[in-house]
Amino acid sequence: MSKAFNKCQTQLRESPKAWLVTGVAGFIGSNLLEWLLENKQRVVGLDNYATGHPENLAEVRDAVGASNWKNFLFIEGDIRDLQTCRDAVRGVDYVLHQAALGSVPRSLDDPLTSHDANINGFLNMLVAARDEGVESFTYAASSSTYGDHPALPKVEDRIGEPLSPYAVTKLVNELYASVFARNYGFRAIGLRYFNVFGPRQDPDGPYAAVIPRWVDAMLADKRLTINGDGETSRDFCYVANAVQANILAAMASEEARDQVYNVAVGDRTSLNELFDSLACEMAALKRDYSRSPLYGDFRPGDVRHSQADISKIREYLGFQPTHDIRAGLAAALPWYLSHTS
Ligand SMILES: NC(=O)c1ccc[n+]([C@@H]2O[C@H](COP(=O)([O-])OP(=O)(O)OC[C@H]3O[C@@H](n4cnc5c(N)ncnc54)[C@H](O)[C@@H]3O)[C@@H](O)[C@H]2O)c1
Repeated sequence: MSKAFNKCQTQLRESPKAWLVTGVAGFIGSNLLEWLLENKQRVVGLDNYATGHPENLAEVRDAVGASNWKNFLFIEGDIRDLQTCRDAVRGVDYVLHQAALGSVPRSLDDPLTSHDANINGFLNMLVAARDEGVESFTYAASSSTYGDHPALPKVEDRIGEPLSPYAVTKLVNELYASVFARNYGFRAIGLRYFNVFGPRQDPDGPYAAVIPRWVDAMLADKRLTINGDGETSRDFCYVANAVQANILAAMASEEARDQVYNVAVGDRTSLNELFDSLACEMAALKRDYSRSPLYGDFRPGDVRHSQADISKIREYLGFQPTHDIRAGLAAALPWYLSHTS
């Protein structure tokens, strides 16, 4: 564990804080909730179950035990409603804003709804948090903001044109955050996640992310389809790394705020390599998978290659990824196995 993260954990345990996690019933939100409750924090969670699930919360409840669970208050509500945001943020020290509609294809199918949740909802949260005078506001930004910029690895201050409505919404989040710093002195931190994966990432539905979708297919012994030639690459980031980044960001010094940071491992894995690694991890769990993949069309709106430069978050927040992709897959797969019928 990084020294800085260790220090935050000790500090929080000695002096617990009140947190708001939006999108708490989703994948990353529920992992944040679990870490916070395990570390004796008080947490308010907000979610409208658009893509999150009550089962994720039930699983956290079982994992943290009854006495920690008492420190959690759930509000079923929508960030598109300003009053709901104001109610949720009341009395909170740190905000971890995760609620949004993810997925590039979803935003291409229905740009209005993605815009509404990801931009109007985001602005409501910023206004509510600013008015409440919270200590810090950390939000889920996205690597999609790099758009068509060809440089690799991706460095925070060099972005291209967005390639999808989803990418536009995440870029607008960053613009609003920066304007709030300039005009109201409200200095948020944006975390540009790069393909986060791990337990509780939803494998179902047309907008599921690649790892849970493939694991699901492999466990059902179905042939799976790779979009494009399989040489598309991503910086896959296990969720524990994203949790670490959020805690570090929430407790960052004033100088480290009003910034965006890449959250990733700093590595690049092609879809073909991912396929091989997954098959290998499955074999280690005695679930041999021997089917070859089908190759389909490239997906519109997808960037070809993605790999983060993580020097900025290392230097300013003391971030140190604990899991590379192989360690992450090994940690995540047992969860998928235990959730397949
Ligand atoms: N998972 C990734 O690889 C990744 C990459 C880049 C950015 N992100 C961002 O991270 C955040 C969390 O993503 P995730 O992967 O956990 O997705 P998720 O879909 O599992 O979680 C999002 C949660 O937000 C909730 N939500 C959506 N609209 C809402 C609304 N209007 N009001 C209240 N709650 C609402 C959903 O119900 C869900 O529980 C999102 O902002 C996403 O855009 C994720």
